[in-house]
Amino acid sequence: MTGHSISSALDKIPKSGIRKLFDLSQGMEGVISLGIGEPDFSTPAHIVEASIKALKEGKTYYSQNAGLFELRKAISEKMKKENGINVSENEVLITVGGGQALSLAIQASIKSGEEVIVPSPSFVAYVPTVILSGGVPVEVECKEEDKFILSPDSLEENITERTELLILNTPSNPTGAVMAKKDLEDISDIVIEYNLKVISDEVYESFIYDGKKHVSMASLNGMEDSVITVNSFSKTYSMTGWRVGYLLSKDESLFERMLKLHMYGPVCNNTFAQFGALEALKGPQEFVHNMREEFQSRRDLLMNRIQEMNSVSAIKPEGAFYLFMNISNTRMTSEEFSEKLLNEEKVVTVPGSAFGPYSDGFVRLAYPLKTEKINEACDRMKRFLSKY
Ligand SMILES: Cc1ncc(COP(=O)(O)O)c(C=O)c1O
Repeated sequence: MTGHSISSALDKIPKSGIRKLFDLSQGMEGVISLGIGEPDFSTPAHIVEASIKALKEGKTYYSQNAGLFELRKAISEKMKKENGINVSENEVLITVGGGQALSLAIQASIKSGEEVIVPSPSFVAYVPTVILSGGVPVEVECKEEDKFILSPDSLEENITERTELLILNTPSNPTGAVMAKKDLEDISDIVIEYNLKVISDEVYESFIYDGKKHVSMASLNGMEDSVITVNSFSKTYSMTGWRVGYLLSKDESLFERMLKLHMYGPVCNNTFAQFGALEALKGPQEFVHNMREEFQSRRDLLMNRIQEMNSVSAIKPEGAFYLFMNISNTRMTSEEFSEKLLNEEKVVTVPGSAFGPYSDGFVRLAYPLKTEKINEACDRMKRFLSKY
């Protein structure tokens, strides 16, 4: 059997489907983008100041490979208090965004040919990362009628003797679906029965609306040792450009494997950025609360406006800042829809096809933008749809 190489696996994966629409919109004037995956708030000043202070004080050296002790300690405290996950600072690894945490977790968990279950529609990085890691992605459809939540039956149907890992993402990009405790418990029963590992991507944990609460898979009975929790400062504190994320794992040997990979890659995260992240956790949290309130009212606005439009519909997303709009009645493919809407009305959306094989009847609308812009984008979409 020939071995797996990243270089040859690279030829099997396409560029992200998100980029194409952005490239097409380059140079066009008056474009409104509903394609953006980051909050439109500035990083709070006290976080920026803490990072500047660290630089001025000469904290310009490598940190420990796993990350600053104080930051790992603060994360372990947050996890115990808010997420119900009992981890020590030695079970926390600071990474280059949640993105690197995902790569480390997938690369260190699977061997060549092992299968990874990816509930679909899914975040664009999962499937390519599994392929690059020598694994075999098994995309399992999450239906709109199930509110895009993975059903225990479809999970079980797709498990084989080669299945090693399941990737969960709640709240979800691209659907905004939020798994309730019961949903996670149903899945955890199967995870235990088949002895699977889980990566739980919780980077949108702070964006859950209508008073509902985030539940971490690793906090459930029997799940503690099987789950790698992935999280990030990017969305919660509007720090996407800082590139600070983290992962948690109580599996000592797996943790060591991830740390080894990290050591021979970025070595450690930027030290001054980690001081900013430390302040994010230790400082006032009003910002997070205010941003959530703002995003909830933007979501409500977008939902109301979609209800006025012809041929499209949406179920109300409970989290993240995305809405997965059903366009199947327009009889356009999602790429046709997105390209026509861009060319005719200068509104950027992301075709559902970017998120896997089951989503061609949808487009993703991201709403981290001011209400005037959301309204203007909806006026244009309504006009566009009235022609079809
Ligand atoms: C579901 C999901 N996971 C992980 C990430 C990675 O974010 P970052 O690397 O900025 O922490 C993103 C970014 O869009 C995401 O949507």
